[in-house]
Amino acid sequence: MPSNSKFSYIHHEIVPVENAFLHVRDLSIQRGYGIFDFFKIHDGHPYFLDDYLDRFYNSAAIMHLTVPHTREELKSVIYTLIEKNDIAESGIKMILTGGYSEDGYQPAEPNLIITQHSLTLPGEDQIKNGVKIITHEYGRDLASAKTINYSIGIWLINKVKESKAMDVLYHQHGIVSEFPRCNLFIVRKDNTIVTPAHHVLHGITRKNILKLAAKRYRAEEAIVTLDDICQAKEAFLTSTTKRIVPIVQINETQIGNGKPGEVSLSLLKDLIALEDADYKAKVF
Ligand SMILES: Cc1ncc(COP(=O)(O)O)c(C=O)c1O
Repeated sequence: MPSNSKFSYIHHEIVPVENAFLHVRDLSIQRGYGIFDFFKIHDGHPYFLDDYLDRFYNSAAIMHLTVPHTREELKSVIYTLIEKNDIAESGIKMILTGGYSEDGYQPAEPNLIITQHSLTLPGEDQIKNGVKIITHEYGRDLASAKTINYSIGIWLINKVKESKAMDVLYHQHGIVSEFPRCNLFIVRKDNTIVTPAHHVLHGITRKNILKLAAKRYRAEEAIVTLDDICQAKEAFLTSTTKRIVPIVQINETQIGNGKPGEVSLSLLKDLIALEDADYKAKVF
């Protein structure tokens, strides 16, 4: 995520990025302890901000960290940062760390950091042709919290590249959960749309897709197995930056007819329209 912003928020103030420092004592550095969230900015306005703030406060509560601001104070900092940085299309990351620990283990007063970045969106060919994914047996700790621990995902980058895949799907004994940074959906042969119910981060895109899908199809959260994916008509991944990317191959097995499916592509259109409606509701 290339950073081209001029300002960040740290230690309760907005400072030039070159002065945005965290001390080595912070528990995020000492033990990888912290949470974060990330949302997109379009034309200076965040999409679905309240959903992301809900999840940020929820992740903090799960990890016994206190956000040092009320929701309104946090919104005010975010809007001030957006105005100062003035990058129309970008993403904002809010990180809450375990703080400056006395002994390198006990959490202290959390540090809140807010940074703004330019976005890397999926390439058109990924939407047009779909992508391959591989699988790995693993389950994220405290999966409903958006923690800063991405060790296994990062450790698997080389394997993903060597396999000419776009991403790696976690499963435990054949029951799938999610990708390091995305959720999974399948479209069964009867057009039911299913996303794994358990052991996942409740993605904001996942929530929006469930809502949009329910308007036209049967949509549910349920157990999804590796075999279900191989038998599915379509599959796709979702995230804030990627929106929807069709999956056409899992390991060496082709999914459906090996091409992005009609349901996946129509939901992508619906999602873009929903983002547009959210933007217009704020601006007009
Ligand atoms: C573990 C995990 N699952 C799913 C997602 C997708 O969530 P969202 O749609 O809110 O971006 C993310 C996002 O980073 C994630 O880290």
